[in-house]
Amino acid sequence: MKTINIAIDGPAGAGKSTIAKMVSAEMGYIYVDTGAMYRAVALYLTENNIPDEDIEKHIGNVDVSLKFIDGVQRVYLGDRDVSDIIRTPEISMAASRTSAIPAVRARLFDLQQKLARENNIIMDGRDIGTVVLPNADVKIFLTASAEERANRRFKELAEKPDCPSYEEILKDIIQRDYNDMNRETAPLKQAEDAVLVDTTELTLEQSAARITEIIKERV
Ligand code: DC
Repeated sequence: MKTINIAIDGPAGAGKSTIAKMVSAEMGYIYVDTGAMYRAVALYLTENNIPDEDIEKHIGNVDVSLKFIDGVQRVYLGDRDVSDIIRTPEISMAASRTSAIPAVRARLFDLQQKLARENNIIMDGRDIGTVVLPNADVKIFLTASAEERANRRFKELAEKPDCPSYEEILKDIIQRDYNDMNRETAPLKQAEDAVLVDTTELTLEQSAARITEIIKERV
């Protein structure tokens, strides 16, 4: 039976994962966060001190898999659950850098396509509508201004010890946008048939409602 595939792409911090989680829970779809897969690969490469020029040689040893527990994704390296420790600024930046390497993308591509063949999914990332699921039933490009994305991230982190400054967060976001949009393989860009949703002026609830509406109109 044909599965329903929804692709959501956009830059770091646009709210993709929070919104996709809300919408997938409402629609009963599985939510797949492909950024977590790139982060898990980056963690492996960092922990094993593998320089970028040797990645191609080692990528075959990286065993990334996903499990869904009550519909919530957990990401594994071998049998180790790394879902929480991949969320540091160091791994964010390492994932943005190493995801530009074609061998890294090739390693995750088949896994992502298989998940989409077997499940009704909302999958988010950078190249889902353009490369991974070019025939997705609905494609959304979710964005917000860099300043607003930095502002949201700053508020999220403000309670934590060692919270970076707003300026540091903004600088990281601008750097990651640049990396993600300017790499040669599968750069971040809006698919021609994607619907653009700019959340700069929207709350999370308004953004989720807008996306649910777009999906329901088309599926
Ligand atoms: O969505 P995220 O911030 O967790 O993603 C981390 C990095 O992984 C991001 O900077 C770029 C990369 N990525 C990618 O290249 N392609 C995807 N489909 C998802 C993420």
